[in-house]
Amino acid sequence: MASNGPDSGAPAPPPAPPPAPAAGAPVAIVTGANSGIGLAVCVALARAGYTVYGGMRATASAAELLAAAAAAAVDPPGAVHVVRMDVGNDRSVATAVAAVLAATGDRVDVAVANAGYGKRVTVEGVPLSDYQSMMNVNFFGALRLVQACVPSMRRRRSGRVLGVSSVIGLVAFPFFGAYAASKFAMEGLWESSHAEYKALGVHFILMEPGPVATPMAHRPPGPWSPPDELVPVWDAYAAQFMAEFFSIAHTPDACADAFVRAVSDPAPALRYMTHPPSEGMLRTKVADLDGKGVAATTLALLATAKPGGGSTPPPAEADRAEQ
Ligand SMILES: NC(=O)c1ccc[n+]([C@@H]2O[C@H](COP(=O)([O-])OP(=O)(O)OC[C@H]3O[C@@H](n4cnc5c(N)ncnc54)[C@H](OP(=O)(O)O)[C@@H]3O)[C@@H](O)[C@H]2O)c1
Repeated sequence: MASNGPDSGAPAPPPAPPPAPAAGAPVAIVTGANSGIGLAVCVALARAGYTVYGGMRATASAAELLAAAAAAAVDPPGAVHVVRMDVGNDRSVATAVAAVLAATGDRVDVAVANAGYGKRVTVEGVPLSDYQSMMNVNFFGALRLVQACVPSMRRRRSGRVLGVSSVIGLVAFPFFGAYAASKFAMEGLWESSHAEYKALGVHFILMEPGPVATPMAHRPPGPWSPPDELVPVWDAYAAQFMAEFFSIAHTPDACADAFVRAVSDPAPALRYMTHPPSEGMLRTKVADLDGKGVAATTLALLATAKPGGGSTPPPAEADRAEQ
């Protein structure tokens, strides 16, 4: 494990470099690895043979991950390493990924942009800065990981970038507008990049968890209230949401199984659903749940582009050119 020292108080000593991966083992980097889905994904990937570098903003919270990895008796033991990485900070992500790439000989096979959070909001009464904070972690944090990892994947013509979206990244639930916006943004970036990078062997994949029993459900709400007219439904919906949505939650381990499918699928899809009970609700908006239809459409758009030839001039311009 790379021990990075204390996370607050006196300036931390420079972190020790992360250890090298097990010989020949594929390499994964996972953000938000100290908790919930990220923790379970680290353990599941280690069990699947990966050397995993689990990123977290406070390495003091690494104990649960390391205990879970030890309890899972992954082979070889010690296949999970901790790196300090705050996805909200450009330099933190760039430095952490560079250190991992130095340890692995410029190899990362799988990057999982998992760190994220959600709080209930309305458009009124919530400072813009709180919207920006959520975008900074959920969307720009994911993009920071992409920018740090994808060049190495492209050079090696191999890699998978898993964006942890949500069923709320496909259907925006009431009072989750900020969270949905951040996940919709991720959906757009991944959908576009999927077409661009497929021919280079780099696969952009969206994971779509439904309710998962993680600490997320118990994180404190924001300090805001909605306008008076919305208070009754805000309160009633909060109670109903917590009771109904999370009553059908599955475990982080069950969710992580879908991630193992996504990294080992010989023909990776654009989207992986992780929670079958959510699929009926999602089909009210999306018919193409694994994104194969969308991917075929966007790849066809690229297929019509003529490298070096620019676009076909519109008819009027073509007529003029002939004169
Ligand atoms: N649980 C669900 O029902 C569910 C459903 C759909 C999608 N998801 C998505 O799954 C991902 C993981 O969530 P989870 O359920 O596993 O929740 P979790 O247990 O609360 O874990 C969230 C992880 O993200 C990190 N994180 C949160 N805020 C951060 C910030 N401001 N800066 C840096 N890191 C931050 C946390 O670090 P700290 O511990 O340091 O805060 C933690 O490692 C999220 O992207 C979430 O949107 C969850």
